[in-house]
Amino acid sequence: MATARPKVSPLPNDARGEAAAEAPPVFDNAFRDELATLIAWRRDVRRFCTDPVPQAILDDVLAQADMAPSVGNSQPWRWVSVDSAERRAFITESFKRENNLAAEAYDPATRDHYLQLKLAGLKNAPVHYAVFCDHDTEQGRELGRKTMPEMLDYSAVLSVHTFWLAARARGVGVGWVSILDPKAVSRALEVPEAWRLVAYLCVGWPEAEHIDPELERAKWQARTPMKIYQR
Ligand SMILES: Cc1cc2nc3c(=O)[nH]c(=O)nc-3n(C[C@H](O)[C@H](O)[C@H](O)COP(=O)(O)O)c2cc1C
Repeated sequence: MATARPKVSPLPNDARGEAAAEAPPVFDNAFRDELATLIAWRRDVRRFCTDPVPQAILDDVLAQADMAPSVGNSQPWRWVSVDSAERRAFITESFKRENNLAAEAYDPATRDHYLQLKLAGLKNAPVHYAVFCDHDTEQGRELGRKTMPEMLDYSAVLSVHTFWLAARARGVGVGWVSILDPKAVSRALEVPEAWRLVAYLCVGWPEAEHIDPELERAKWQARTPMKIYQR
């Protein structure tokens, strides 16, 4: 039998007296519109200003990234702030190497187009995070990952996406760099063997804001409407 949907109080939180702290929030149309705007304006950013991002903002955003859903409540994400200039330089070299290899795999015309794309903001981004998934974690007691162990990695991805949205809500841009040799990055950052690289993120204030993705602007790949399959 279907359960009736609980009635949500129309009162704002502060009008509910002592129960306010425990009461679920009411999301109104204005909030929904703002959320839709946030989702539409979240961009993968490759062009950053070099101005620093205050640590308090980063701490807030990281705290939200830590609230992402995870299989078995395992929270397998491991965020590494890459601060050392030498390590950043090593990772930038890995990007250049892998990017050239990727370019070589295309036919000449596509290669030219590919090489014009800006696919990382490693030089200017004031903040770099490498996000790993800890495959040795006991947290979550293996719940939900017996038949699909990749759920652990997917959980780490959700932490990245939560960070991405929370950062954008504060005007901070995030760029995901995947054109890297993950083993070389793990070695450079001296992380435990069981940590697998999920994302390398460039973070900072965007140089410009656009509602359309950079790859769409560069005529590489436009968005297409989602098709819902029915069976
Ligand atoms: C898993 C993942 C890996 C990505 N890797 C790269 C990358 O290496 N370089 C890059 O420029 N963009 C990368 N992106 C960003 C995508 O190109 C971008 O999300 C897509 O073009 C849509 O643009 P938007 O994020 O601005 O909506 C990556 C995104 C995801 C989700």
